[in-house]
Amino acid sequence: MPRPIEALIHRDGLAHNLARARALARGARVWAVVKANAYGHGIERVFEPLRAADGFALLDLAEAQRVRTLGWRGPVLLLEGCFEPRDLELCSRLNLWHTVHRDAQIDWLAGHKTEQPHRVFLKLNSGMNRLGFAPQAFRAAWARLNALPQVDEVSLMTHFSDADGAGGVQAQLAVFERAADGLAGERTLANSAALLRHAQAAAADWVRPGIMVYGGAPDHPQHTAAHWQLQPTMTLRAQLIGVQQLTRGDSVGYGNTFVADSALRIGVVACGYADGYPRHASSGAPVLVDGVRTRTVGRVSMDMITVDLTPVPQAGPGSEVTLWGRGPRDSMLPIDEVAQAAGTVSYELMCALAPRVPTRVA
Ligand SMILES: Cc1ncc(COP(=O)(O)O)c(C=O)c1O
Repeated sequence: MPRPIEALIHRDGLAHNLARARALARGARVWAVVKANAYGHGIERVFEPLRAADGFALLDLAEAQRVRTLGWRGPVLLLEGCFEPRDLELCSRLNLWHTVHRDAQIDWLAGHKTEQPHRVFLKLNSGMNRLGFAPQAFRAAWARLNALPQVDEVSLMTHFSDADGAGGVQAQLAVFERAADGLAGERTLANSAALLRHAQAAAADWVRPGIMVYGGAPDHPQHTAAHWQLQPTMTLRAQLIGVQQLTRGDSVGYGNTFVADSALRIGVVACGYADGYPRHASSGAPVLVDGVRTRTVGRVSMDMITVDLTPVPQAGPGSEVTLWGRGPRDSMLPIDEVAQAAGTVSYELMCALAPRVPTRVA
């Protein structure tokens, strides 16, 4: 008898959200960002529903190889480029486009023997201060790349640090426009938040939505996924495997952090932090039991969570528990709300779905 927990990956949600991104992109081509194993969904599971994308943007060669193995012949972009010179061999063999964000990557290209010239995305550091050339070094890098016989096309790229927040994109956009002024090459700027919130940043040749494709609102709680007309793509659900009747003064779970102030019926759920449920969501995080909203009580443990059954007196062992995503009878628990209760973002919850959770495409 398998433990009663599973994750569902929703084909229709992925396809819907990708279509939303395409509608907002207004003619720009759309990279489906599938790094981090498609934000925890599994590259192999999302591939068919996201096949309508113009390309797949991802992190490393292993992920690129998986996308090629699935039969994808279209564009594949390595978002951080090569990590060492020999990575270029696989870029040549698999026809991967790659980001160039520092001089060493240009040196490696200059020393690379290939009959197949590469397409590269030259990254500008417009203010995120993570990867990319400084504005004053951007033009020289562009010229160097364009002079290499190993390179046949140079595109221009930057990444926003606060497209989801109050800072917006304006300042970085101005830096990009100045640095890229007069340079030939396609442009790619927007992540999900920029695409949803800043139309001027979406106006480019390519957009790079990630979290919105997976039904997360990049600017939650300011806006919900429903506000952006996004659908959930991952459901984590389990069942109750036990019930306890507490009386006033009883505690529950490690550390006795929750103490009942009156009689309370609680359910024990077959899901814990070893399944990817965030331990910081202890006490008060939203959860659905039989589709009815209630809350966690006490600490999250490795294999179990305890929940308040007051709003669902009929619930007992075997009752369905929705940790996030789609519940029974059209109920829904946005992953963003659970993330908020845990002091994190939906990205982290999706990525943390544990390999031990049986997962299937629905
Ligand atoms: C360079 C780059 N582009 C696009 C994305 C997609 O971002 P989001 O998931 O916020 O849409 C990421 C993700 O962090 C990224 O690093």
